[in-house]
Amino acid sequence: MNDFFLQYGGILYIVQFIFAVIIGLYFWNLLKGQQSRKTVMFRESEKETIKLKQMRSIKLSEPLSSLTRPKSLADVIGQEEGIDMLRSALCGANPQHVIIYGPPGVGKTAAARLVLEEAKANPWSPFNADSKFVEVDATIMRFDERNIADPLIGSVHDPIYQGAGAMGSAGIPQPKPGACTKAHGGILFIDEIGELHPMQMNKLLKVLEDRKVLLESAYYNENDPNIPAHIHDIFRNGLPADFRLVGATTRNPEELPPALRSRCLEIFFKPLEKEHIQRIVLNALERLNFEIDDDALTEITRFASNGREAVNMVQLAAGIAQMELKLRITKPIVEKVLNNGRFSPRPDIKPKERPTVGVVNGLAVYGATAGTIIEVEATSIPAAAGKGTWTVTGVIEEEQVGGAGHSYTRKSMAKGAVENVLTVLRSRYGINTRNYDIHLNFPGGIPVDGPSAGISMATAVYSSITDQPVDNLLAMTGELSVQGLVRPVGGILSKIDAARRAGIKRVIIPADNWMATLESIDDMEIIPVRNLDEVLSRALVGEVKKKTALQAKCRWHGPKHMGGLIAPDNDI
Ligand SMILES: Nc1ncnc2c1ncn2[C@@H]1O[C@H](COP(=O)(O)OP(=O)(O)OP(=O)(O)O)[C@@H](O)[C@H]1O
Ligand SMILES: [Mg+2]
Repeated sequence: MNDFFLQYGGILYIVQFIFAVIIGLYFWNLLKGQQSRKTVMFRESEKETIKLKQMRSIKLSEPLSSLTRPKSLADVIGQEEGIDMLRSALCGANPQHVIIYGPPGVGKTAAARLVLEEAKANPWSPFNADSKFVEVDATIMRFDERNIADPLIGSVHDPIYQGAGAMGSAGIPQPKPGACTKAHGGILFIDEIGELHPMQMNKLLKVLEDRKVLLESAYYNENDPNIPAHIHDIFRNGLPADFRLVGATTRNPEELPPALRSRCLEIFFKPLEKEHIQRIVLNALERLNFEIDDDALTEITRFASNGREAVNMVQLAAGIAQMELKLRITKPIVEKVLNNGRFSPRPDIKPKERPTVGVVNGLAVYGATAGTIIEVEATSIPAAAGKGTWTVTGVIEEEQVGGAGHSYTRKSMAKGAVENVLTVLRSRYGINTRNYDIHLNFPGGIPVDGPSAGISMATAVYSSITDQPVDNLLAMTGELSVQGLVRPVGGILSKIDAARRAGIKRVIIPADNWMATLESIDDMEIIPVRNLDEVLSRALVGEVKKKTALQAKCRWHGPKHMGGLIAPDNDI
């Protein structure tokens, strides 16, 4: 053995040395590679940081849109009742979930963004300085049906996915909190909540109920000692999600799931009137340090149908004025904006100047909250006995009903309502409507809810056949039963508001719609009615004789409160 070492010892040392050198070189290379990779990454990161800093140092002036945005709830104009409700729902000791309904651009998002700050100012409020306001937009929120990613509710990042990191390679599922958990202890604001996917809506309802997000994963094993304690805790007890929900939507209440609606306080924002638009414009101009000519202001209020449109017009007009080196907005500048934007004036239906035969002011609601007066016109041309026809124009022939998931087409209810009206006039007033070509028209292209225009249609036809003018300062709403009774309708307060704005002095409403708040109205006469007879006696002016004569020809039928007249002795 010794001989062997004596003989080959030198060679073995050389071989050992060579191996040591090779291994040394290998590790040295490896280290150098790592070092140079680190240096490259470091240099790259340094370069990117400098680039970012440079980009951040570039600042454009503050956009006009953010300058003009309401800064406190008091800056949200024309929504006093809605804001009051919002305050009482969220700023007290027991905040509630809320849904804000309203047409586009009337301050829903603006108000929702401000309410948490207002709530924090209240010492009783459970919200505190750390309470978060988390805003998500349901129109752009995407989720994965397999639960890989869910930015609203939260999801579990399973270890099989790329980028699962160290926990992934250890086979540990990782819970990822969504907006519901991020909003814990504060407010979760879901803008355009009506657009939320039905599946997300159901999951959200569950979270509202449990006040926590329960997550599941096929990769979770409760006995696995490798899984960190906090992940065990999350899978066992859920992620905390105790927040108050504020949803905003332009949809109508009936388009939202009843389960969500029943958990929330519903608040309605109104369409803005001219005087509100005027105040929004003046506030925006004050923030921009611009002045405006009176006729330019009138032009904006005439065309802007909501707050956003008004502010946009102001921004464009201010931009044009700046280019002309002026700090004053003039009418020609506003006209430029209006022509370019192809705006059309807001519908401004005014009653006729004098009582007119066959023209009745009806009242309608469109969208969730907007009331308007509508003109109902009727003409009746005598036709060959029994050969008369009837036409109705200005209403939708067919309408799509329902939304989310199910919809069907139905014949316009307006046509059915006309049949009712003609039956009542024939059976109760002895007017043989078949002796006339009757044309009913709803000008203005405003969506008409046929049944609630029932008494307006009856009055218009009656007036046109008997040639009696209708009070031009009176408006009416009410459904007509085939027995001549007036049935209740919806949206009475919005309709009365609309009538007031149009300069109406008397409003006929169904007696069943009467409510205590109507007693405090002193600038208009509100007339509750039970039957068509009461409607006609209040609505027709002047030649009442003719109607009395007609009544004389008929005999009373049924209880007096029904006011029905039947079985004519003579056809008119
Ligand atoms: N009532 C208002 N008072 C003051 N400013 C308003 C009002 N309504 C709208 N604005 C202006 O219009 C902008 C847009 O309003 P906001 O985003 O709140 O509308 P929205 O009701 O949420 O509309 P949408 O349904 O289209 O989202 C606001 O930033 C504000 O400048
Ligand atoms: Mg909005």
